[in-house]
Amino acid sequence: MSETNLVNDAKIAFIGAGNMAAAIIAGLVKQGVAPANIEVCAPSEGNRARLASEYGVVHSADNNAAAAKADILVLAVKPQMMREVCAQLAEHRNPNCVVLSVAAGITCQSLANWLATPAQPAENIAVVRTMPNTPSHIGLGACGLFASSAVAQTQKDQAQAIMAAVGLAVWVNSEDEINIVTAVSGSGPAYFFLVFEAMIDAAEKMGLDRQTATQLTLQTALGAAKLAQTSEDDAVTLRKKVTSPNGTTERAIASFEQNKLRDTFAAAMQACSDRAQQLATELAK
Ligand SMILES: NC(=O)c1ccc[n+]([C@@H]2O[C@H](COP(=O)([O-])OP(=O)(O)OC[C@H]3O[C@@H](n4cnc5c(N)ncnc54)[C@H](OP(=O)(O)O)[C@@H]3O)[C@@H](O)[C@H]2O)c1
Repeated sequence: MSETNLVNDAKIAFIGAGNMAAAIIAGLVKQGVAPANIEVCAPSEGNRARLASEYGVVHSADNNAAAAKADILVLAVKPQMMREVCAQLAEHRNPNCVVLSVAAGITCQSLANWLATPAQPAENIAVVRTMPNTPSHIGLGACGLFASSAVAQTQKDQAQAIMAAVGLAVWVNSEDEINIVTAVSGSGPAYFFLVFEAMIDAAEKMGLDRQTATQLTLQTALGAAKLAQTSEDDAVTLRKKVTSPNGTTERAIASFEQNKLRDTFAAAMQACSDRAQQLATELAK
């Protein structure tokens, strides 16, 4: 059974019609979710009307009306907008829906606090926090998910189906781990883009033309990732297999080690995770 079968009969409302909403909607429709069950909301017509014409989904400027009907409410606005958007939705949304946030740095507790009403305290609000990444736009995303304690198993399955429509979706056991997911896959594409840039620049400096350097670098990255994903060998073994004693790769790896590449990555990822934690605290205020 395709995972999207789990959301086939659900009403899904997207609050926000930007890049991330567009990526997920594209994935859901491609996987057979009925466009009529998807409603996308945004204040201005441009983005939401484009999504409606491209995918046949319903669109409107009325967040509250869409949220009142929704079984799954996807919050896809910028983090800075989230508090205001949640406060407006609080009294209007279907209280039995699962709320799925794709916003960086907003905790489940903040979302639940902003969505709480006298009739439904924060601890009873089912919130799933996700950390997607930009390759979601081509269906190759890598997303971490964390569920608050009020989320039922069927709602977890639905959240999983939504994010799996645009790539890999992996659950973490504690919300703090979302900061680590941010350091690995959320920000990870940028690390690889930087490595591509460095390799292309170096190859050009050594005398290759930029186009050839770019083609070779990107194909090598793609091939290495595919090989690592499909091989029974782990990354260490794969690396050793390309590293003959006293050969060319060995010289390159020795240079990386001497220049403390591992420490460089560890420090960068720690800085990223620390900043995610700091943002979560700032945005909760
Ligand atoms: N972009 C990524 O690849 C990526 C990756 C990881 C996480 N995220 C997270 O995804 C979220 C959305 O990012 P994005 O890149 O999709 O942003 P975006 O392209 O700027 O889209 C934001 C959307 O929110 C809409 N919006 C603003 N105020 C609203 C309101 N009051 N009610 C309803 N909709 C409202 C905007 O409406 P208009 O169309 O009228 O302008 C726009 O459609 C962010 O929280 C971000 O942290 C994004």
